[in-house]
Amino acid sequence: MRYAIFSDIHGNLEALNAVIKDLQSQKIDGYFCCGDIVGYGADPSKCIQRIQEIKATSIAGNHDWAVAGKPVLSRFNAFARQIIGWTAQVISDEEKEFLSEFPLTFKNDDFVLAHGTLHNPEMFHYLLSFLHVQWTFDLLDRDVCFVGHSHIQEIFCRKDNTIKKNDLYTVSLEKECCYLVNVGSVGQPRDRQPDAAYCIYDTKAKTIELKRVVYDIAKAQKKIIAAGFPEALASRLSLGI
Ligand SMILES: [Fe+2]
Repeated sequence: MRYAIFSDIHGNLEALNAVIKDLQSQKIDGYFCCGDIVGYGADPSKCIQRIQEIKATSIAGNHDWAVAGKPVLSRFNAFARQIIGWTAQVISDEEKEFLSEFPLTFKNDDFVLAHGTLHNPEMFHYLLSFLHVQWTFDLLDRDVCFVGHSHIQEIFCRKDNTIKKNDLYTVSLEKECCYLVNVGSVGQPRDRQPDAAYCIYDTKAKTIELKRVVYDIAKAQKKIIAAGFPEALASRLSLGI
């Protein structure tokens, strides 16, 4: 199987379309989203519709549930709160219901998905500390776990209770290892690379590939400004922060 896994689209239609176009030129057996389809960007409805069109299996991000009116046990900054309120006004009731039904985790025979961490996924922790990496590995009962939320693309590997961060974009999976993959962000990367991020897991080739794709950042920025959002939400896109 060749799985495509991506996360944190955040209402950025230009980035999502570029990722889908790149994926549709490849053989892909299933699309998976680790949450946060909405929030920060100016095209929440269109992003939801694109996810529905490609029949991506999605789990809940903190922004998805907040927009849908579900209680979320994580804090939002002022910009995030402002756009969550705006998004809740502009998307349809059906779209809110779609977001509200996302589960916190997903599991199949090959991998597990969570938005932030497997440890208390309802808390939406960021996978930014060694402890969170370790706790997620401790709970992992598949070879691979995919997450998003921090918007930083990276791969951790655990072998014989030793955890290492991988420096390569393509990893060949070893039998005695398990992997924790942050797939990065489609619509608002924060790893100082502005290109949209996604990931391919090929179970036959036994590889995980971190991918980046260029998109029309200026167009997404213009829409953010036209919607009346804070300028910082537009400028950060070209900086990847
Ligand atoms: Fe998130």
